[in-house]
Amino acid sequence: MFSTLLSVFAAASVALASPLAPRTGAWCSGLGITYDTASNFTLTALNTTLPNANSTGVPLVAGQNGATDGAEFEVLSTWATYPYLDFPTMSLNAGALVPNSANGVPSYDMAAVAGQPLQFFTTSESPSGEAAQIYCAIVDTDPDFEGPPTLAVNGDADNFALCMNGDGPYAQNNVVWRPTSDNNGMYLYETCYNVTLQIVGGNA
Ligand SMILES: *[C@@H]1O[C@H](CO)[C@@H](O)[C@H](O)[C@H]1NC(C)=O
Ligand SMILES: *[C@@H]1O[C@H](CO)[C@@H](O)[C@H](O)[C@H]1NC(C)=O
Ligand SMILES: *[C@@H]1O[C@H](CO)[C@@H](O)[C@H](O)[C@H]1NC(C)=O
Ligand SMILES: *[C@@H]1O[C@H](CO)[C@@H](O)[C@H](O)[C@H]1NC(C)=O
Repeated sequence: MFSTLLSVFAAASVALASPLAPRTGAWCSGLGITYDTASNFTLTALNTTLPNANSTGVPLVAGQNGATDGAEFEVLSTWATYPYLDFPTMSLNAGALVPNSANGVPSYDMAAVAGQPLQFFTTSESPSGEAAQIYCAIVDTDPDFEGPPTLAVNGDADNFALCMNGDGPYAQNNVVWRPTSDNNGMYLYETCYNVTLQIVGGNA
């Protein structure tokens, strides 16, 4: 498993081939140089309060978040707290962010709700298979240090955090958009720290 992940990351470290064709979807409006379609990349979370943060951050995977009849729910978890590769990569399809499952079952993103984790569902029973077009990749145009593209949801790239969803041995550190202490026990607010979501590797 570890070697599989490493090879995924080695493959992902190839620079994104020219993703710079401007897109006009509402989900990218006002965000500068952007794109909204790319395949097979990895997301990482960079601690925004680290003083010398120039790494690509910690790798994220689609982590389990429960199930109902016929569907599984996912959130974005640090690979360190959810060390499985059920969804080795992610893709962006015209503003929809989708985990790519290892066994080919389709996944869909759900509307982002402030104060909640970013959520996804996976089902082979497609009737409810409507993906939300709300995500956009922002290209870093800093001439001094061009970092990887960052991910925005609903036009907002600056208000993500990683928050523990519990304190047990299998607790997951999950990406939350605009965390709040008033979260119905979904996560432990005091564990949250701000992150930027980065897009590493992939194909335009
Ligand atoms: C993404 O990865 C899948 C599975 O490895 C592959 O079949 C597909 O061709 C890739 N897509 C692109 C655009 O590289
Ligand atoms: C994030 O950065 C802050 C400031 O340096 C630090 O206090 C905190 O421990 C970091 N969190 C993690 C999980 O690295
Ligand atoms: C940036 O990362 C490089 C490579 O990991 C490291 O050598 C360098 O010291 C880092 N710079 C800062 C300011 O953290
Ligand atoms: C984290 O981000 C929020 C805005 O989303 C901000 O209010 C807060 O001050 C930030 N915390 C730190 C430690 O930078």
